Amino acid sequence: EEIEKGGYPHFMLKEIFEQPRAIADCLRGRLDVENHSIQLGGLVDVLDKLVNAKRLVIAACGTSWHSGLLGEYLFEHLAKLPVEVEYASEFRYREALIDEDDVMLVVSQSGETADTLAALRTAKERGALTLGICNVVGSTIARDTDAGVYTHAGPEIGVASTKAFTTQVSVLAMMAILLGQKRGVLEKEYAARLIEELDRIPGKVEQILENSESIEEMAKLFTYAPNFLYLGRTYNFPVALEGALKLKEISYIHAEGYPAAEMKHGPIALIDEMMPVVVIAATDHTNDKMISNIEEVKARKGRIIAITGEDNEEVMDLAEFNCPIPETEDCLSPLLTSIPLQLLSYYIAVNRGCNVDQPRNLAKSVTVE
Ligand code: G6P
Repeated sequence: EEIEKGGYPHFMLKEIFEQPRAIADCLRGRLDVENHSIQLGGLVDVLDKLVNAKRLVIAACGTSWHSGLLGEYLFEHLAKLPVEVEYASEFRYREALIDEDDVMLVVSQSGETADTLAALRTAKERGALTLGICNVVGSTIARDTDAGVYTHAGPEIGVASTKAFTTQVSVLAMMAILLGQKRGVLEKEYAARLIEELDRIPGKVEQILENSESIEEMAKLFTYAPNFLYLGRTYNFPVALEGALKLKEISYIHAEGYPAAEMKHGPIALIDEMMPVVVIAATDHTNDKMISNIEEVKARKGRIIAITGEDNEEVMDLAEFNCPIPETEDCLSPLLTSIPLQLLSYYIAVNRGCNVDQPRNLAKSVTVE
């Protein structure tokens, strides 16, 4: 096992640091930067149907559901395709309306999650085209879907998902760009910019990882915080949910992720000097709104940890702690903003003496219903 950990104290840390390579593997052979095009071999046979779909339904559980939620933002923005995101467990037990005009996309690292598999089978029975984004090659979901795209992240052993998440999001971004191009709704220059930027993501993730020590230092200050709040808007709202989930899973600290604007409908009542608030402020068009949220938190003495673009001095001046990330396109920013949050939860869990790779009560793959 020590050999498999490749010199890292935990699989989770190894997997966090593997992300530049995992994302590069996921993009390899699929991104054609010179011609500004994307090839997803697994979708070739169903592409026409996908292009003409009326609606895409995404179903998943846990971290994969957070990727799915990001998928909604990406497909709507880049491909102008209406999307519904479902917890697989809710979809399967509800009278969900789905038929042959819809496409069902399931997202699953393991490809074995029982609820996700059941949601997929329900959609199939009702005649929908079914697609999968899986990491484990040959898994049940990968075999049962009509078509799909592998994430190629390599084996993920740590129960808390890290590289599976960023590679799922990479696949979703590629799918959304490809679909936007095929549907003729994505501006040529914008598509070109996104493809070039996707190609730079592994290098930018590397840059963030080079600063891991500053997050390790910061984690020391928050090790015994009883609660955490994570706030984000648009593309970084799912990242807020994912950051909170990571902390809960491995450090057993109660944490909630919220769309920043919803803070005033409840969580603001909890804010005092004991409450660290992680603000993910890396989306340009909502920056002013995030700044007012930060001010609202500060007025109540909450402690701000900001994950923001390295040029965003306005936010950095307001925050108590900063994790600057390289600038990127708004819709790709989750691929970067999620990294400091993984590290933060990892170091806090280690400081608390938690079993990082095998947290209590959790399983890597939930094959029971
Ligand atoms: C479990 C794991 C999570 C994972 C979820 C969905 O809860 O602990 O890390 O996100 O299942 O798993 P899947 O394999 O379908 O992505």
